[in-house]
Amino acid sequence: MTTHDAPILVGTPEFKADAHARYAALRERGPIHRVRSADGSALWLVVDHELAREALAHPKLSKDPEPFAERLRAAGQHIMLAGSGFGGNMLTADPPEHTRLRRLVSRAFTAGAAERLAPWIERLSHRLLDDVAAAGSADLVASFTRPLPMAVICELLGVPEERRADLQRWTRQGMDNPSEGQRAALSALNAYLRGLLDDKRRAPADDLLSQLIRVRDDDHDRLSGTELLGTTVLLVVAGHETTVNLLGNAVAALLSHPEQAAYLRARPERVPAAVEEFLRYDAPVETTPARFATEDLDLGGQRVRAGQAVAIALTSASRAFLPADEAARLDVTRPDPRHLAFGHGIHYCLGAPLARIEAAVALRVLLARLPGLAWADPSAEVRWLPAGITRGPVALPVRFTPSGDRG
Ligand code: HEM
Repeated sequence: MTTHDAPILVGTPEFKADAHARYAALRERGPIHRVRSADGSALWLVVDHELAREALAHPKLSKDPEPFAERLRAAGQHIMLAGSGFGGNMLTADPPEHTRLRRLVSRAFTAGAAERLAPWIERLSHRLLDDVAAAGSADLVASFTRPLPMAVICELLGVPEERRADLQRWTRQGMDNPSEGQRAALSALNAYLRGLLDDKRRAPADDLLSQLIRVRDDDHDRLSGTELLGTTVLLVVAGHETTVNLLGNAVAALLSHPEQAAYLRARPERVPAAVEEFLRYDAPVETTPARFATEDLDLGGQRVRAGQAVAIALTSASRAFLPADEAARLDVTRPDPRHLAFGHGIHYCLGAPLARIEAAVALRVLLARLPGLAWADPSAEVRWLPAGITRGPVALPVRFTPSGDRG
């Protein structure tokens, strides 16, 4: 039996607790492995940097799970891993549909729109920290890294404030492994967003949803009702949990490297460059949703059969361009952290400019507002979310010097 026949189990709590060492060991053995995920799905997992770039852009690896859906359902495989949690959107489409959908959405969702939100994100970061600054201790996941991205995506899309808590709950539950509750949460999310789109059609406002409804390209093409809903659900889900975990992983890294936190506190203009190192050090999308081989193909020396699923371990690939020792070292001054945290190729993250701005603003405000920031219990281990796709801490229990002032 070759190493590639071994049933490697990934995504279990044991794997999550020790993920970087396990990925490093897998990289030593080869660039791609046959694995079984925690929900029982069998798939190929790419762990190497160069092979990840090849797989992410491979024309014979399809993002559309529909032709494979029946077999996946019969095998009871994970809806999110299969990427079919929300249809009618660019993430689960191949060209030419992907090209068309991405072009239409890009017209409304620009880097400029993200930049214009920066002052608002700064005010929001302060507001969230106002609630904890005097206490001297907090769980920063509950009070900061989780509420901030949901408020930002809701502000951008135009979701009224009183419904944001519902949206947060549905999104969180929708990411769980399949269950009655998970399915109910996704249908509640769909039903609410469908109603919101109807409201915006009747009374357009100055927000992204109203723009997506209006958007047309030169051929007078526009998004259908299903595509609008699929795109909206995608923006809420992709724009939320990912950024929560970028922030969570960055704060965890800073807490474990106080000298680098001190460096950034003294040089806040270096925070945007440091965000790239946080993305390399602990990429928040641990594995991409699966792609499917449209025909037999060779990948990293392995024969991938038509219909087989391939996922790319971005958390591994983002460290893999450096030698093992160097890869495991956080260095917020690293000149070129060539991570793959936002993917690569035609599906490269559309929200990357927004995620970068959010992270830079939030981390700058956090460092300024909470002097003396440290783990509440330095000997406690970080607990990682059990989610299949994302990687981030369950909680960030911290202490700091209490203050009532704004930094
Ligand atoms: C740190 C935060 C984020 C990370 C790490 C991240 C990561 C990714 C990755 C890896 C992909 C490609 C998946 C694949 O190829 O299978 C992707 C696609 C996408 N992301 Fe993000 N994302 C983040 C934030 C956001 C935000 C804030 C938004 C929007 C508000 C967003 C919207 C999208 C969309 C629409 C796609 C699909 C692009 C396409 O299929 O052409 N993401 N993201």
